Amino acid sequence: MRGVHEPRTKTPDRVSRADLQALRRPPSAITPFAGFPDVLDFPRDVQPILDRHCVECHTYQRRDGNVILAGDLGPHWSHSFFSLFAYRQVADGRNGLGNHPPRSIGSSASPLLKMMGGSHYGAKLSPREWRTIWLWIESGAPYAGSYAGLRNESDQNIAGSAVARVFAGARDVLDRRCGSCHAIGQPDSEDRRPLPFPSDFRRNRRGSEPRTAVYERIVLADDPMARFSANILLNFTRPAWSPLLLSPLAKAAGGHERCGAVFRDTSDSDYQRLLAAIEQGKSELDANPRYATPDFKPNRQYVREMKRYGILPASFDRSKDPIDIFQVDQAYWKSLWHEPENCASPSP
Ligand code: HEC
Ligand code: HEC
Repeated sequence: MRGVHEPRTKTPDRVSRADLQALRRPPSAITPFAGFPDVLDFPRDVQPILDRHCVECHTYQRRDGNVILAGDLGPHWSHSFFSLFAYRQVADGRNGLGNHPPRSIGSSASPLLKMMGGSHYGAKLSPREWRTIWLWIESGAPYAGSYAGLRNESDQNIAGSAVARVFAGARDVLDRRCGSCHAIGQPDSEDRRPLPFPSDFRRNRRGSEPRTAVYERIVLADDPMARFSANILLNFTRPAWSPLLLSPLAKAAGGHERCGAVFRDTSDSDYQRLLAAIEQGKSELDANPRYATPDFKPNRQYVREMKRYGILPASFDRSKDPIDIFQVDQAYWKSLWHEPENCASPSP
């Protein structure tokens, strides 16, 4: 037996070159989709398409279908990115082990692409936009399309601690104004509307790390509690548009009034305290500008390695030198290309 059917622990024996049809000509060169980046980046490539076709109905104010597709930032990602996964629009196979049946992951299994062809409230993408979404899903549907955006441990802790600060800072407001209906900081309970808010935002026993188990878990599954995740409740771009504030705010005052009008208007001092707590979390995060914000800096490890590979000059100073991370990535990938001299090059 030859090809894919032979034992995978053995190389094929006695196969002469002429034996295999494919070996009678040089290898085909891989042809890229012309005019598209190699790796798609959610904030750069996908969000503008959502802005054009979806955000009109999926704003904080309208929130059709309870879905927000604006690019405002939550603790870790943009609200749109979180929402697409919470509503299982993208089948990226995340955390699924083992073999997958054909067409159960990737673009062909993602509802998002299906709803972009005109069947969903008339939203119809141009062929180029459609291809962009397709490529984004096929390249693993990443948030950051650059290694420079990978967060190290300390970056991740900053997000966790900003969330903890909001909930701890407003704890007495949450207890007094929300606790009669929401089981705050506890697992689901029967008599009260189960949970919201990270189930345990106090410090854990082992040390100082804030526990945010509920919100960490949520994005990985189609979880009906996703709407109570800190990833969507907190808006760290425009704090006053945090669903945490809009849900209990009266419609007449611009809120969603999902809880009844707990806050009749924004002059309620508890509303103001909750808002101040979110603003406090935002300033903590802003001190270390995040991916896809103007003052973002690639992490230290990225800069160190890119210098080591000779892609960035040794003199590069992360704190002040400008950098185009997508160009640096591209130069890095190119340095890895296999370019044997005697291989027939593709015609230009
Ligand atoms: C003209 C208004 C409008 C536009 C434009 C629009 N939507 Fe919607 N969307 C709705 C409404 C209304 C619902 C809730 C009812 C429903 O699910 O059909 C909804 C529901 C959804 C849902 C939830 C589906 C579910 O399974 O519960 C998702 C996800 C969604 N939209 C994504 C999008 C995306 C992506 C775009 C852009 C390509 C978009 N929408 C454009 C009105 C709109
Ligand atoms: C009188 C009872 C009541 C009080 C008080 C109350 N809520 Fe709610 N809240 C509810 C109910 C009921 C829901 C679920 C509504 C639904 O399922 O659509 C809810 C839903 C929510 C949601 C999720 C909404 C969504 O659509 O995603 C948030 C966030 C929320 N509440 C925050 C708060 C905050 C913050 C307070 C205190 C300032 C508060 N609630 C006080 C009853 C209450």
